[in-house]
Amino acid sequence: MCGIVGYLGPKKAKEVILEALKRLEYRGYDSAGVAIFTDGRIEVVKTKGKIARLEELLKERDLEGGLGIGHTRWATHGKPNDINAHPHRCGPIVIVHNGIIENYAELRRSLESEGIDFYSETDTEVVACLISKKYRGNLFEAVVEAVEELEGSYAIVALSEKEPGVMVAYRKDSPLVLGVGEEEYFVASDIPALLPYTNRVIPLEDGECALMTERGYEIYQGGGRVKAKKEPKFISWSPALAEKAGYKHFMQKEIFEQPRAVADTISSLFSPDDGSFGLFEEDFAQVIKDVKRIRLVACGTSYHACLVSRYWFDRFSKIPVEADIASEFRYRDISFGEGELCIFVSQSGETADTLAALRICKEAGCLTLGVCNVMESTIAREADSVVYTLAGPEIGVASTKAFTTQLVVLFLLSLYVGMTRGVITKEDIVQIAEPLVYIPGYIDEALRLDEQLKELARKFMKKEHFLYLGRYLNYPIALEGALKLKEISYIHAEGYAAGEMKHGPIALIDENMPVVVLAPKDKVYEKVKSNIEEVKARSGVVIAFTDRDNRELEGKCDYVFYLPKAKEYLTPFVYVVPLQLFAYHVAALKGCDVDQPRNLAKAVTVE
Ligand code: F6R
Repeated sequence: MCGIVGYLGPKKAKEVILEALKRLEYRGYDSAGVAIFTDGRIEVVKTKGKIARLEELLKERDLEGGLGIGHTRWATHGKPNDINAHPHRCGPIVIVHNGIIENYAELRRSLESEGIDFYSETDTEVVACLISKKYRGNLFEAVVEAVEELEGSYAIVALSEKEPGVMVAYRKDSPLVLGVGEEEYFVASDIPALLPYTNRVIPLEDGECALMTERGYEIYQGGGRVKAKKEPKFISWSPALAEKAGYKHFMQKEIFEQPRAVADTISSLFSPDDGSFGLFEEDFAQVIKDVKRIRLVACGTSYHACLVSRYWFDRFSKIPVEADIASEFRYRDISFGEGELCIFVSQSGETADTLAALRICKEAGCLTLGVCNVMESTIAREADSVVYTLAGPEIGVASTKAFTTQLVVLFLLSLYVGMTRGVITKEDIVQIAEPLVYIPGYIDEALRLDEQLKELARKFMKKEHFLYLGRYLNYPIALEGALKLKEISYIHAEGYAAGEMKHGPIALIDENMPVVVLAPKDKVYEKVKSNIEEVKARSGVVIAFTDRDNRELEGKCDYVFYLPKAKEYLTPFVYVVPLQLFAYHVAALKGCDVDQPRNLAKAVTVE
């Protein structure tokens, strides 16, 4: 889950790499480092901690060269310290690596028996030494030979001190994108890192090796053995989308971008006037007609989006539907049947477990669909078809706008599948989807609770535990609210189906336990009201969210916040917003690192 980058061109590599690393820092921030070719030598500068610290160190170093690599680390093998920081050097070879080398211990033993000494605890140093061992003056060949002995997942960028104008990148199961500029070449773990420099990219596939020199780039497939012709694709994201634009944190900016992101996603996929969809190419639309079961697979927040959509598939598609956490799904022994559509929801499109689940389903002959935000990401490319959320780059580690845009896609899919199965007609769709166009406006209104929620955050920021309750469509929103709070503010929070409270969690409730209750006036509202009574009867502190026209919670709850009244089946879009804002303010007031919470990384590309 580290971020890696490489540059070869006329600019100062140090500056390009630092800028790109800042954009990749969401992938890990335990340590950072660069290796720059300067005056015939490769100078390595690296440090524990964040890129800001590396930047300070680099101010004192005069590194002029136009070839270099960089790394920001999420520690897997070895503590996050200076020594384990990348880049790693062995003989003339210097590399950065993202992924996990599963057989590194064996390789290390074997290299040690040949007299090689290791200075770090990392699997990466083993790779550097293996390449060094294979090196006979041609970096490309040494990399290709070395990777044959590696097991696991890896994206590697390598330099050799003996080849001043050469950079080699290899990918297997960890993302890597080649950027093509004017007589300059880039590699990075994702596209946003490249956007300030180029919009022309070539995502590398597994087993592909890129050789970059001052004369150009070449790509080889089949473990680097077969030369391939790949043209760059144009990516329309602008670099400004990946800036903070005056907000204090990316997460805050991304929460506030939701009206735009949701509106863009709706209009790119659906025309509310005539109920027509722009979800798929014709050939995929043909096969989707025969679908008999839907499996939704994802992790974290994306999984919560799947849980919400289960209610929509039940209601609008009338089709058997399951939602699974990818890390569990991949170890089940599933008996797949005929006509299964497996949908993989992933902001990054790179989550290792979700990708593994996709490969299992493909292998089993299921129809596969990715719902991704990052264009040309691995899941987007490997699935039979992909629907993109138009959230734009999401930089804050806590997912917000990706979630609401995933909801848009899944909601539209449920209507589409219902239509192909003859459950609902085009006219029904126009009617059911009509309230969707109001959602961006409702989210905008929900965002106006910002100041009030900041006040609430001030009152509750010292609490150690929170319970979030919701039912029906807002049960997953309770899970999501709790996840947001715990991941960025480090406060323990649990999301629960309100109806389950009596089966255990009610024992937790006392005057110290704040309970956040989602209470839109939907078909389970009366039940939720009873749950509120149960909490109050045990002296719990209730913070309720309800529809604007519902005043009856006023006397029953300690705090009541009012939200625009959305159509019942669309309430999750609106109810998640104040929970995102509340979590954001608690974390910001506590002085937590909102965009880069401890121990987390944005794209979980290791199992
Ligand atoms: C939480 C969060 C994570 C991700 C999860 C899946 O705020 O961001 O739980 O949702 O790691 O990531 P993607 O969607 O990239 O597969």
